[in-house]
Amino acid sequence: MPADSGIAEAAAVLRAGGLVAFPTETVYGLGANALDGRAAARIFEAKARPSFDPLITHLADAADLPALVGAVPAGVATLAERFWPGPLTLIVDRPAAIPSIVTSGLDTMAVRVPDEPSARALIAAAGVPVAAPSANRFGQLSPTRAEHVVAGLGDAVDVVLDGGPTRCGIESTIVDARGVQPVVLRLGALPVEALVEAAGPVIVRPGSSGQPVAPGTLAAHYAPRTPLTLGAAEPAPGDGNRLGFLAFRERPADGWAAVEVLSPEGDLTVAAARLFDALHRLDAAGVTEIVAEPVPDVGVGRAINDRLRRAAATWH
Ligand code: TXA
Ligand code: MG
Repeated sequence: MPADSGIAEAAAVLRAGGLVAFPTETVYGLGANALDGRAAARIFEAKARPSFDPLITHLADAADLPALVGAVPAGVATLAERFWPGPLTLIVDRPAAIPSIVTSGLDTMAVRVPDEPSARALIAAAGVPVAAPSANRFGQLSPTRAEHVVAGLGDAVDVVLDGGPTRCGIESTIVDARGVQPVVLRLGALPVEALVEAAGPVIVRPGSSGQPVAPGTLAAHYAPRTPLTLGAAEPAPGDGNRLGFLAFRERPADGWAAVEVLSPEGDLTVAAARLFDALHRLDAAGVTEIVAEPVPDVGVGRAINDRLRRAAATWH
């Protein structure tokens, strides 16, 4: 249903313990009442998500954070004030009101205020914090359109709010700003450069080992169903009629069965917004393999390359 007119009904579904997929500025989220452990459990079930991968709690307004968690560390408050609403997720201590299933048993909680009016209106109307991971099955491509949600999760969701394609196209940047120096746990839509400008030097540690700091940073993740490798925009190899190519700005020489160009004008923000949609289309094009060209490793380009490397790692 449309994101604007469906809000009252969707909020009632959330309050009743149901699942609502909704647009944010980054990707579509699969929301449940974060105060209700049984509702949160349904998220893990619908996504086939391992119980060790904690959820992000979404608030309607930055002013709601102290009410939920009590005292907010200075470093967290600084970044929240500067970047909320927006594609930044911050780590705080888990308040007692949030059941431990939401944080997968961690004594910390990830929280953000999305920069999407309909999402904030939904959370405000529900009157509860909303736990929401990306609205895709675990490990697969993140959804940037309502159609992606329906194709991936189908009947497992009670309501899908359709707000059209999302603006940023990749997930929020996750930062632990409780200590002296902020630590980036996941590269995302808010560029590291913007964090440095606001908070000084940061440590970038998107972990990828067996016990990840932010499990969205598992080495293998964000994967299309079609095998993906990283490569350059060269003419297609002999079997090019079965290969797909994901280009940054220039079309590769002929011979590819399917080609997606992320941004002919070479704009990394545009490329990020189109990334998952392009991968969804290549995945549906019937090619045997997708070759993806890395983008310049600056700004949001770092987060794009991070997604491409993890998608490729799934197949190696
Ligand atoms: O942009 C986004 O962040 C989207 C929209 C819907 O808000 N959500 C999203 O959720 O990307 P998800 O579940 O796909 O990724 C959440 C990430 C996971 O990597 C999880 O490990 C990490 O957040 N996370 C959650 N709680 C954490 C915590 N307490 N400490 C460290 N990482 C945490
Ligand atoms: Mg995800």
